[in-house]
Amino acid sequence: MKHITCIEDLRQLHKRRVPKAFFDYADRGSYTEDTLRANSEDLQQIKFRQRILVDVSKRDLSTTILGEPAAMPLILAPVGLLGMQHGDGEIHACRAAQAAGIPFTQSTMSICSIEDIAAAVDKPFWFQLYVMKDRGFIKALIERAIAAKCSALVLTVDLQVIGQRHQDIKNGMTVPPEWSLAKLIDFATKPAWVSGVLRGKRRTFGNLAGHLKVSEDITALSTWINSQFDTSLNWKDIDWIRSIWPGKLILKGILDVEDAEIAAKTGAQAIVVSNHGGRQLDGAPSSIEVLPEIVDTVGSQMEIMFDGGIRTGMDVVRALALGAKSCMIGRAYAYGLGAAGEAGVAKAIDILAKEMLTTMGLCGVNTIAEINDNVLAV
Ligand code: FNR
Repeated sequence: MKHITCIEDLRQLHKRRVPKAFFDYADRGSYTEDTLRANSEDLQQIKFRQRILVDVSKRDLSTTILGEPAAMPLILAPVGLLGMQHGDGEIHACRAAQAAGIPFTQSTMSICSIEDIAAAVDKPFWFQLYVMKDRGFIKALIERAIAAKCSALVLTVDLQVIGQRHQDIKNGMTVPPEWSLAKLIDFATKPAWVSGVLRGKRRTFGNLAGHLKVSEDITALSTWINSQFDTSLNWKDIDWIRSIWPGKLILKGILDVEDAEIAAKTGAQAIVVSNHGGRQLDGAPSSIEVLPEIVDTVGSQMEIMFDGGIRTGMDVVRALALGAKSCMIGRAYAYGLGAAGEAGVAKAIDILAKEMLTTMGLCGVNTIAEINDNVLAV
């Protein structure tokens, strides 16, 4: 780990250590990947204003997220199949987040179940919900999150239909999984990964146990998800979810000002400005492109979180400078998990924290609250 200095190093290690199908699942985006690329490229276009001879000896990343103290303005985003990047991956990622003093969000599409994580950690975590056709099952899932004392519900609203990721199809990411000689050889060359996954508590979607409707035919993962998820989901359903979930509600996947305005009227405490990491609507704007307008319109009514393309602490500061209150990271920590389990996630968080502190110092600010568009060059 000594020679790992940036998130890209973790990505390369993840690529070497984890079977190709799972690495690609984490790394790639939908269709032409234009939006995936735009997320990072547009962040990199934003230039800082270097300030000198300011006393920056008391730099501090601490902040609050939805009223709770957090060590830094970062949240581990919901990422499906973490347990396929590393045995018990969801538990490892949650432990690393909690040790670093930031929230972890468990995806509906996790390998470990809500209960597996709750039993393995001692602080509350967040739960992300995808709404499926069987509303009785969704109600039960929300009740499980309540029983596990999850401290926020992240309702993902940008996956009613699924954007195709070509590489997943080429790699045979199917339900049930498709086997090939190439895949077996790939697995055989990654024995540490195989033994880690075999030691893990589960090897299929833990939250959906007893609910998986797997047909006899092999279906692309995306086709299967399309068949399970509720395409009729609409704004009225938010009231139904709020009637079951009494706690903090975050709507994730908002990219349009009009949608943000409607979201502000639902009583949700926060939105995540997000295009699902370039995995859904290819050709959508980058998240950072739309952030300022959304902050201007609804920023005084609800907390604005941001994700998409964050690979450095500089990117976090850029998003905060444009009005985000905190940032979710997806791939940045998934690479850490694939590279080295809990220690790899901890490393990813540490890299971003150190880069944030350096950027703040060179921009002449000491606190998260001081970060605004004054740190940006025009
Ligand atoms: C995701 N994302 C996601 N979002 C969600 O709400 N539920 C999910 O199950 C998943 N699954 C998922 C899997 C993988 C492999 C990735 C990379 C992403 C989207 C995620 O929460 C977040 O919005 C993006 O990852 C942010 O972009 P970056 O940080 O990966 O660039």
